[in-house]
Amino acid sequence: MVKAVDPALFRETLGHYPTGVAVVTAVAEDGRPAGMVVGTFSSVSLDPPMVAFFPSVNSGSFRHLRTASAFCVNVLAADQEPLCRRMATGGADKFDGVRWRPGPLGSPVLEDAVSWIECTYEDIREAGDHFVVLGLVHELAVQRPTLPLLFFQGGYGRFSPGSLIATPDPDLIQAAQLAETVRSLVEDLGTELAMDCGVLVKIRGDAVQVLAANRGSAAEPFPLGHRQPIVPPLGAAFLVDSTPAEVEEWLGRAPDDGHDRRDLHRARLDQVRECGYSLLAAEPRLLQHQQEALSAFELSDRLPRTERAVRQATSELAELFCPDLLPGELYDLASIVAAVPTGAGMPPMAIRISGMPAAVPAERIESWVGRLKQTAAAAGAAMTGARG
Ligand SMILES: Cc1cc2nc3c(=O)[nH]c(=O)nc-3n(C[C@H](O)[C@H](O)[C@H](O)COP(=O)(O)O)c2cc1C
Repeated sequence: MVKAVDPALFRETLGHYPTGVAVVTAVAEDGRPAGMVVGTFSSVSLDPPMVAFFPSVNSGSFRHLRTASAFCVNVLAADQEPLCRRMATGGADKFDGVRWRPGPLGSPVLEDAVSWIECTYEDIREAGDHFVVLGLVHELAVQRPTLPLLFFQGGYGRFSPGSLIATPDPDLIQAAQLAETVRSLVEDLGTELAMDCGVLVKIRGDAVQVLAANRGSAAEPFPLGHRQPIVPPLGAAFLVDSTPAEVEEWLGRAPDDGHDRRDLHRARLDQVRECGYSLLAAEPRLLQHQQEALSAFELSDRLPRTERAVRQATSELAELFCPDLLPGELYDLASIVAAVPTGAGMPPMAIRISGMPAAVPAERIESWVGRLKQTAAAAGAAMTGARG
């Protein structure tokens, strides 16, 4: 005998498992569109292609749906919660005002759904108080590659990538306030060098610009609040005083592209730790590619797929970091970043200069680096003092 399970405990425990939200639609025998919301949709088999969902044996909506020969699973987008609520009701008029078109087998494909999968019924069998419905997939497409609607503990929400989550953060507010106390130092440096100058802080996995003094020649200098995921080789200046575990975590953010690249990131980090700053050479093609990946990432609400593209494009900048400066040679640089020595309990910070002229002799770059490091040291001391 199986031990009886408390229904409330069953609901509570299973409610801790999140699901997506889909609307199963069909044109019923009576010629009217029918539909129901399911959180139980799942992919089952690739060969042959099959999916499943589990309607309640008491579902009036499913009684209509099963009179059709085909059905369509519509995966809802994060902004389709009102449609979801409407489709989860028991009424017969829930399609009034809902925009849809017939799929290849005639089932309603809902406008603005993320994707749709049209099937024929392969099997319907009872399992306790639900049916297990197996569908054989005939046609399917991604219609709108955006964030899906999620359901968890009785509430609706959306996906946000954990490691790179971008939320207001006490560290960010503290860093912005501290950066404000060194504004004149940073502005003076920007004016003196005629460059864009910004204070950056590491907030979880992102580098965020908390102060901007733009005096350089760049057409689009980094704006205040500019945020980008820290992926090697980027962010080495934040790791000057880090633990081996933090370095491992940083290296782990690089795409899985082999030991050579990993060794290169580690070597670059060692150089930055030794000299206290990093140089990024200007290579327009690679930098533009990385900026495009970053824009697509932000525009997509930080979808995992676009995040992978950012990781890849950033990792490809490895060759541009820390070029050794040879006396008499000319260099095109994109930016120089120096670590700010912050005290215990403060998030890692750095100062970046960018928007510099092209074809600059090594000696001049060394003098910029000297001024930048001086400013970073003075800023670190002032901010530590400001905290008391
Ligand atoms: C997020 C969400 C997920 C749901 N998942 C299921 C499900 O997997 N199976 C099911 O039978 N009903 C599910 N429902 C309930 C039905 O969508 C719907 O409320 C019910 O079928 C309406 O009653 P009727 O079927 O008698 O018309 C879900 C509802 C919501 C809001």
